[in-house]
Amino acid sequence: MASANDTHQPQKDAADQNFDYMFKLLIIGNSSVGKTSFLFRYADDSFTSAFVSTVGIDFKVKTVYRNEKRVKLQIWDTAGQERYRTITTAYYRGAMGFLLMYDISNVDSFNAVQDWATQIKTYSWDNAQVLLVGNKCDLEDDRVIPAEDGRRLAEELGFEFFEASAKENINVKQVFERLVDVICEKMNESLENGPVPPSGTTQLNDASPKEQSNCSC
Ligand code: GTP
Ligand code: MG
Repeated sequence: MASANDTHQPQKDAADQNFDYMFKLLIIGNSSVGKTSFLFRYADDSFTSAFVSTVGIDFKVKTVYRNEKRVKLQIWDTAGQERYRTITTAYYRGAMGFLLMYDISNVDSFNAVQDWATQIKTYSWDNAQVLLVGNKCDLEDDRVIPAEDGRRLAEELGFEFFEASAKENINVKQVFERLVDVICEKMNESLENGPVPPSGTTQLNDASPKEQSNCSC
């Protein structure tokens, strides 16, 4: 659901303390699959065809309104290049959700998905939620990974699957919103079963007892 907070005001969003939950999310995957483009499309609704490879790590903040809750997203955009791996994996801790991205026109990026999934298992919180995203689905003529292969791999890994395009703005918002919903569902499950909320979650101190015990997303 859209709201006044769901507009493109990144600076205001970053300082905005008016939220119910804060989720830390990471975008990972090989270099050039479109991680930065995906984030820019989502946060700023912009796209450039120039490739400026990310150095280390960067983040943007966006607040979304889901099921009557304001959820502040801190979205970390990691460098895909191998030489930054030590830096980027240090940020996996405390992340509640990952977008694991490959490029449907690049077989290496797809073959690397398993390794990226292993990195998540190794460095992140056990219950982190992961969506597999086949980006650049606008490049149908250059496609080398059939959607079915992506879907099958996602199933094997236990992730949900989307194809998307940062360039054509296909499924970008949907992917983020689904990740937020999946995290909320998981939170509700854990809260119903008793344990404390995951460490990457921030709740406002003034939330009512009911809100503290149930995300209701
Ligand atoms: P690293 O920062 O090196 O890890 O790469 P990255 O994954 O952040 O890739 P980036 O977003 O910089 O995009 C790489 C190139 O792919 C750029 O030239 C983008 O314009 C292009 N690109 C990104 N998304 C899409 C898309 O959906 N479709 C098409 N056709 N091109 C895209
Ligand atoms: Mg980048």
